[in-house]
Amino acid sequence: MAHYRRMGNVPPKRHTHHHDESGHRYAEELMGQEGFSANSSLLYHRNSPSALADIEALDDPSGSSIATADRPLTPRHIRTGSVTSSALPDLVDGRRTLLTNDDVEVAWAVATNDSGLYRNAVGDELVFIHEGRGTLESVFGRLDVGSGDYVVVPAATTHRWVVTDGPIRALIIASRGHIAPPAKYLSRYGQLLEHAPYCERDLRGPTELIENDTEDVPVLVRNRGGWSRHIHRHHPFDVVGWDGCVYPHALNIADFEPIVGSIHQPPPVHQTFELPGAVICSFVPRLFDFHPDAVKVPYHHANTDSDEVLFYAAGNFMSRAGSGIDVGSISYHPAGFIHGPQPGSIEGSLDKTRTEETAVMLDTFAPLRITDAAREASDPDYPFTWAR
Ligand SMILES: [Fe+2]
Repeated sequence: MAHYRRMGNVPPKRHTHHHDESGHRYAEELMGQEGFSANSSLLYHRNSPSALADIEALDDPSGSSIATADRPLTPRHIRTGSVTSSALPDLVDGRRTLLTNDDVEVAWAVATNDSGLYRNAVGDELVFIHEGRGTLESVFGRLDVGSGDYVVVPAATTHRWVVTDGPIRALIIASRGHIAPPAKYLSRYGQLLEHAPYCERDLRGPTELIENDTEDVPVLVRNRGGWSRHIHRHHPFDVVGWDGCVYPHALNIADFEPIVGSIHQPPPVHQTFELPGAVICSFVPRLFDFHPDAVKVPYHHANTDSDEVLFYAAGNFMSRAGSGIDVGSISYHPAGFIHGPQPGSIEGSLDKTRTEETAVMLDTFAPLRITDAAREASDPDYPFTWAR
């Protein structure tokens, strides 16, 4: 994310004295990635963001610690509507981890309540809003989000989720690193290139700062060692200004412009983000392949080096007809299983010129482990739907 932004009260030169009218000096915080060697932002707090009043250890609220290898190897249809709901229905405590490996976690959440303050120091999070509207409040300000938004929350951003039109149903992809546009679409200086399926104009950042002077504020903190609660002496949202290239931002999947061809285009043309050990792709309404003899639904494929997770967000999914897959479904096709169009779907596509599907795909390069929450929400008949 190399698109520079600036909000609020920032001094003309970095690392110089900055204070309010009464002479109170602001605390400068550098939020920098890869040890001062990659993108960063500078934030100016009214008070020290380091002032802690208390610290305590917490258990993992998302259930990811009980994920195990998926044995026997099983293609799955996970119905998000059947995922066990949480006693704390918000976008942080209410997450149910479904699939995970050492690079990435996939979780589902249904939120009717606002979340508490949260900071994930393990890596960036991508929250795909399937339904509902809300506001991501963070040290960088307010970012209004809604259905179809990919919301990228950089690692270590203190934030909370406010529900304005609920419930919010969301797919959460938590990385152990940074989530960025594919390198193939970036110039060597970081600008999105002409052949990229989206550009900087499609990315929305925070619109206004939040000033809060509450004291002794709890923040749920996640790092590689687990979960903790820090009590901050001063509210983290005491920022008077910031600038830089690290901040939460949103891209609506409808702003992803599809790349089509006369014969089938492979999934990399749908790539939207990259992250360590995985890629994220967007399948959006588009023209079907237009060669007169083109087979319009995907061929069988064996995913030799990846596990494939697809979330079906909207529209109809012709290649999956008869499988039970519908809006809100997740399919999980692990490496070692050969998957392809459902019986009859090639014939059903012959007179079609468009597909109206909207789906999000995560391909991981290492095998995923599965949680009981995902097993319990799986359709037991799905693995055998190609044999009908
Ligand atoms: Fe596939």
